[in-house]
Amino acid sequence: MVPDTTSAAYSSSQSVPQHVAVIMDGNGRWAVREKVSRGQGHKKGSEAVRQAIEGAVEAGVSYLTLYAFSSENWNRPQEEVSDLMGLLRFYLSREIKRLHKEGIKLKVIGHRERLAEDIQKMVAQAEALTADNSRLTLVIALSYGAREEITEAAKHIAAKVQSGDVALEDISEDLVSSSLQTKGIPDPDLIIRTSGEQRLSNFLLWQAAYAEFLFLDVLWPDFTKEIFHEAVQNYLTRERRYGARP
Ligand code: FPP
Repeated sequence: MVPDTTSAAYSSSQSVPQHVAVIMDGNGRWAVREKVSRGQGHKKGSEAVRQAIEGAVEAGVSYLTLYAFSSENWNRPQEEVSDLMGLLRFYLSREIKRLHKEGIKLKVIGHRERLAEDIQKMVAQAEALTADNSRLTLVIALSYGAREEITEAAKHIAAKVQSGDVALEDISEDLVSSSLQTKGIPDPDLIIRTSGEQRLSNFLLWQAAYAEFLFLDVLWPDFTKEIFHEAVQNYLTRERRYGARP
């Protein structure tokens, strides 16, 4: 069981980030370093997910989004895709009850129709089971690509204009935001990427407009909840201006 929040332990007048999003990168390099298979690297990476969840709950973060599988990841070798899907099945079957007990709500974003039917079913069941939980919302991005998400939103809005339900003048930033899969989820305040790479890789492009970024040299399987707390501490030193003057 995850202990209660320790957000009061942070010595800053700024609030902890409401939404932290993580690009979990470096499983492959961890596997090379440890001289094990890439599959083993992903397995260790899936164990680090628990560390991120515990860190988020302890910190008092309300939303944690994890980039688990991108639209582009389908282009990886068949064996690796199948390892990742196997891990996902294992994760969903083993962790959902625990997440539910901990009061965590699960939401999946991404092109879920591309996932195997049994995984789609497990995701739908997990979302239904945890729908009323409120301690932390865990958003898992699966078969997710931000450009695809924005394109779908554009089509959705265009169809509404075509049918006369929405006037052209009524297309606003709020309407675009609420046409995305992250509808109802606040934009991320902090985006962390592990492994030393410094790019967004088609992750939350619209939602990241005013996010703070933190690029860590640690490989994802080595991620711990202590690193999560350090990331929050780092965020608390940032001055957020949203384009305005200090
Ligand atoms: C990037 O490492 C990581 C991924 C493509 C997958 C992330 C998946 C997990 C952490 C495990 C499954 C998640 C859940 C929620 C069960 P990489 O392979 O690109 O590493 P590299 O850049 O070092 O090769």
